[in-house]
Parts: sequence; structure tokens; C-alpha cells
Amino acid sequence: MPAMKSLKTIAAARRWRQGIDAKVVLVPTMGALHHGHEALIRHARKIVGPTGIVAVSVFVNPTQFGPKEDFSAYPRPLAKDLATCKRAGADAVFLPRVDDMYAADASVTVGESGLSTKLCGRSRPGHFGGVCTVVAKLFLAIQPTHAVFGEKDWQQLAIIRRMVRDLNFPIAIEPFATVRESDGLAASSRNAYLTPDERALAPSIHAAMENAAKLKSPQSIVKFCAVAISKIPGARIDYIEAVDASTLAPLSNRKTAGRLAVAVFLGKARLIDNIPLPRIP
Ligand code: PAF
Repeated sequence: MPAMKSLKTIAAARRWRQGIDAKVVLVPTMGALHHGHEALIRHARKIVGPTGIVAVSVFVNPTQFGPKEDFSAYPRPLAKDLATCKRAGADAVFLPRVDDMYAADASVTVGESGLSTKLCGRSRPGHFGGVCTVVAKLFLAIQPTHAVFGEKDWQQLAIIRRMVRDLNFPIAIEPFATVRESDGLAASSRNAYLTPDERALAPSIHAAMENAAKLKSPQSIVKFCAVAISKIPGARIDYIEAVDASTLAPLSNRKTAGRLAVAVFLGKARLIDNIPLPRIP
């Protein structure tokens, strides 16, 4: 098996891509890879098969962090990340530097003005603009035929699908189900911010969501979930919403597929999660 290629600049990525006449799947990440990312990379391999190319980008994107967020503190364990990519079967890793991705006086961005105003967009202004801009740039550098995004970031997935549709990127967006720890907590790089006590409490968020989802009306689901999560010591609710799975508009009934989406602060971590609220015919 050829060695995993390390692409350190956009120019190197472009040269590498010119020599490839096969399906290329991109797994965009910000590094600090965990077993959830590893599952995404393995899923990417299944999409393109043994003759296809799996590329992983590792780039902590400054433009998607707010001024009071954790950009400088975000973990960057590069050697471990490279080992994870290799173990999971990646063919190439794209590791651009911030000054290669963004000119100091960059003034052109990609924005989404509908879905981004909801859920996390309300408490993280500018976040999804940063995500759209960097994902568009990653797409232009790697030119993948497919790209894999985790369902854990449901809003991000919906926005990327919209961007690909509206800007006509010739790329198939491949969702991958949320990977969970054995106690139900969604795998996330930010789980590392939890103290042992907070880590022990964190799975109660998902448990509350699953119990709430047994109810029928979106209103009672949200209410039940809010009561249960507010009983978790130290938990501070950012939002709990039942939304239409595609438009992210509030769900008023179960006639369309929905998602129960939450964001909860626990200590220093802001945890997000979502589960399906299937359509009830
Ligand atoms: O989901 C993430 O890790 C990031 O938002 C992404 C898609 C890699 C863009 O920086």
C-alpha cells in the first residue's frame, strides 16, 4: 500500500489532484480526531471502494470561531491525528496553514442566510459563514467527488447541503450517523473539556432526549426534554428545539421528518446533540 500523502499547501493539493482519475472522497475535520472521525474515514472508504481515494483535511478554521470561543485552546495533536488517519485507511491528508487558506486582507466569503439564523446560529453569530467559506475552499483545493459530514452537526450538514445545491458544487454529500460512546454521549473533540464529574453527567442529556422522543407532539417533547435537562446539576440550556429535518423550521406536527436538537453548556463545554423525530403518517 502506498504511503499516506501529506499535502501541506493548496498548490500541493492541486498538483496531487491533477494526477488522479478516480473517485475522491473528502472528510473535512478540525483534527483532535477521535473514534467518531475514524468511523467517518472508514465510511469514506466504503463510499469510494478500494480504487477510490480517501482524503482527510485537518485544519482548525479560525473564521468559524467567535472572539470569545476556543480557537487558540482548540487541541492540535497532529502526530496522533496522522496516526489515526493512517490507521483508518486515508490515502492523503491535507494540512494547510492559516496564511495559505486566508490572505491577510481576505474580503470574499461564502454565506448562508436562512438555515444559519436558527439553532446554533443564534448563539454563534458568524459561525456558519466561517464553515461555508472554509468548506468551499477545501472543496476547491481537493475537488472531491464526495464529502462526508457527521449527523452530529445536523445544522452544519443541512447548511452544507444547501451550499452545494445553491452553488452547484458537483459533489455528493454523504451523511454519517452520530457515533456515540457506550453510555450514549455523542463523540466530540470538545468532550475533552469535561471534568470527570461533568463527563459522568453528560450522557443524561442524550437519555433525556431519547425519553422525550417517545412522546408524540413536538411541543410536549421539547417540554419534557427541557425539564429533564434542567435537573442535571450544572447544566445550562442554550436551546432545545424540535425542528423540521431539512428546513430547521420549528416542527408543529409529526407530518414531516424532524429532529430534536439541543445545545447545553456543562462546565466549559458546549455540547450539541440531535436525534431523529420520525414522521408519523
Ligand atoms: O465539523 C467540523 O469539524 C468543521 O466545522 C469543518 C466541517 C471541518 C469545517 O471547519
